[in-house]
Amino acid sequence: MNHQAIDSGGAEALELAGRHIVLGLSGGIACYKSAELCRGLIKAGATVQVVMTEAAGQFITPVTMQALSGRPVYTSQWDGREPNGMAHINLSREADAILIAPCSADFIARLVQGRADELLSLMCLARPIDRVPLLVAPAMNREMYAHPATQRNLAQLQADGAVVLGVGSGFQACGETGDGRMLEPEQLVEDLIAFFTPKVLQGQQVLVTAGPTYEAIDPVRGITNLSSGKMGFAIARAAREAGAEVTLVAGPVGLATPRGVTRINVKSASNMLAAVAAHAQSATVFIATAAVADWRPAAPSAQKIKKDGSGQAPRLEFTENTDILASVARSPAAQAGRLFCVGFAAESHDLLENAQAKRLRKQVPLLVGNIGPDTFGQDDNALLLIDAQGSLELPRASKRLLARRLVQEIAQRMAASAALHHQAGTA
Ligand code: CTP
Repeated sequence: MNHQAIDSGGAEALELAGRHIVLGLSGGIACYKSAELCRGLIKAGATVQVVMTEAAGQFITPVTMQALSGRPVYTSQWDGREPNGMAHINLSREADAILIAPCSADFIARLVQGRADELLSLMCLARPIDRVPLLVAPAMNREMYAHPATQRNLAQLQADGAVVLGVGSGFQACGETGDGRMLEPEQLVEDLIAFFTPKVLQGQQVLVTAGPTYEAIDPVRGITNLSSGKMGFAIARAAREAGAEVTLVAGPVGLATPRGVTRINVKSASNMLAAVAAHAQSATVFIATAAVADWRPAAPSAQKIKKDGSGQAPRLEFTENTDILASVARSPAAQAGRLFCVGFAAESHDLLENAQAKRLRKQVPLLVGNIGPDTFGQDDNALLLIDAQGSLELPRASKRLLARRLVQEIAQRMAASAALHHQAGTA
């Protein structure tokens, strides 16, 4: 059997390492969030060059942004610091991406018109359009955001090749409530990371199960397990970043839903089975990370079971739950190679042998083994990937990094199996 190990690369790779981001601020109260955004980008490994409009300077000072980015801020096209006197050219040529956050209604209109009478819009116009992406995070009052002029401008901006990020909804500085808030700094960092992620799962519909299940004994008690759901949530996020449409069927966990992922909350294994059955039809990848209870109480009591004073514990009878993964793996779509199934195995010992046996038993092309007690609730893990060719070790790393690696491995195997099916079809 072929066995390989992948080097995790020593220190955890920062997700924006090596990226140079020009962060543009236009005038808006959301400038207060740009300070945190700048820190978030730097924490993720990016270098950040801040460029501000004059209006932005009314909301936050260049001194603050300089201190946070560690670089002098540019505010004028007449900046004498550039030897060639062309800040707009130099700044835009160095950038891996330009992110305007906040992007005001006025600034959106300026971009659409191709205005060039101040540094930030001049720089956006002068950027090499094929090489330097422009992302904008709109921020404005809800009426301004909903106005046909703004919506028309946003559509035009997108047609001109810019990436228009979403807006948040809720309480606004003006006292009104609605759409138009700038996304939170951590959401923008997530969006930027996703933007740079190779789209290896573009066009795929990925269905993920995650977390524990809860099997009721009576209305106040039940049986569950220590699965935190972190691995499954990280996989859902990584698949989404890789371009897939992702549905996440989650057992009872308190984790935040990754951006752009559709989440279905379930409690019991039977609920999970029903949710998976409803979505497996349209899926092209199924990743079963959930720690599904193998058994459920056969007859859960409708009322709380009380002590009867006899000192005797109640006797519980159990029924086996349907194996969700095995049932999906047996479906015609999976058998025909249209639905790629990935199982997980939480073992306590003999990981390789147990995981190999489980892969064959569940009839899945890829099974991911891990040591249960070492992973439950942790932020990091180590994985052993088993397929028909052999095994591949992904050494201890954050679940986030492992999820990204796993998504690449899945994409590679799907491409190989698609090529095989194609060859078989044309032979
Ligand atoms: N699984 C499932 N439905 C179940 C049980 C398990 O979909 N009712 C999936 C899990 O999500 C995981 C894999 O099957 O992908 C784990 O298989 P299982 O045989 O349950 O693993 P263990 O619990 O580790 O099995 P065993 O107790 O036999 O070691």
